[in-house]
Amino acid sequence: MSDPYDSFDIENPDLPKAIKKAAMTSGGYPYADKLDDDVYEDELLALQKQLVLLQSHLAKGGDRIMLVFEGRDAAGKGGTIKTYLANLNPRYNIIAALPKPSDREATQWYFQRYVDWLPAAGETVLFDRSWYNRAGVEPVMGFCTPEQTAQFLIEAPRFERMLVADGIHLHKFWLDIGREMQLKRFHDRRHDPLKVWKLSPIDMEALPRWDAYSKARDRMLEETDTDYAPWTIIRANDKCRARLSVIRQVLRGFDFQGKDDKQIGKVDDEIVLGAEEFLK
Ligand code: ADP
Ligand code: AMP
Ligand code: MLT
Repeated sequence: MSDPYDSFDIENPDLPKAIKKAAMTSGGYPYADKLDDDVYEDELLALQKQLVLLQSHLAKGGDRIMLVFEGRDAAGKGGTIKTYLANLNPRYNIIAALPKPSDREATQWYFQRYVDWLPAAGETVLFDRSWYNRAGVEPVMGFCTPEQTAQFLIEAPRFERMLVADGIHLHKFWLDIGREMQLKRFHDRRHDPLKVWKLSPIDMEALPRWDAYSKARDRMLEETDTDYAPWTIIRANDKCRARLSVIRQVLRGFDFQGKDDKQIGKVDDEIVLGAEEFLK
């Protein structure tokens, strides 16, 4: 099978029909159509009301939450985080989106700069990318050595075990998109003046490295999926379903006053998977 990237020219304002058509179901996505807008709005509203109740619960009890969002470029990490935060207090619900390490940071313990962002009582920190750069973008782009990645894959579960042992609630999400969907989103970004800032040189470099990223992802999931800090894979070609599924997954992990399982709704097993199931 030829790679759809071979016929892809991001500068051409017309996206090839074949890519447009294949985007939604690329990578084995189970739905041919995106979720109906009205259904999305209704379900999202119900979930956001539940998130506000969770926020009160955290304020009272002092629980700490870390949500890690990983995925290829254009997987929808940023949009999911924005949706999660829409009705929450920004003082206690914080985004950690670290840029590439400075020269000084590059000499520190690899996890050090992330430790600065760990939550205090009542706080939720949402990581738009994380220490997992060392398992994905860094080895794929040549920003670290293979030895550093191997060492990271041993250390990440140890690091996370300490966080969880200290009582932090840690959720790790991998947002998974197909090849054509990534091409379509890059193309949309390139030609939309409101989105063009999201397109980085790294994204363009990622295009021909699709397979290397897939291998890196699988290895990361194999080595860092643990009982205490499991991965949740969300098939994310449909952004709306992906966002609902992420919020639902977080809410299901807590007991709080006013929790309403009916409002939260059922997990969509078609798009929410554990690492083992995903890797099968
Ligand atoms: P994003 O996809 O998060 O908008 P980019 O596509 O520009 O951002 O970069 C992807 C990731 O790679 C970011 O987390 C960035 O910090 C990291 N990165 C970029 N350049 C380097 C580098 N030289 N060394 C290490 N990490 C880097
Ligand atoms: P409020 O209930 O919004 O009037 O908040 C009263 C005080 O409770 C605030 O000034 C905060 O110090 C504290 N507070 C509210 N929400 C949180 C939270 N999520 N985590 C920690 N403290 C909180
Ligand atoms: C995303 O959509 O997943 C994020 O904005 C990151 C990116 O595309 O580079």
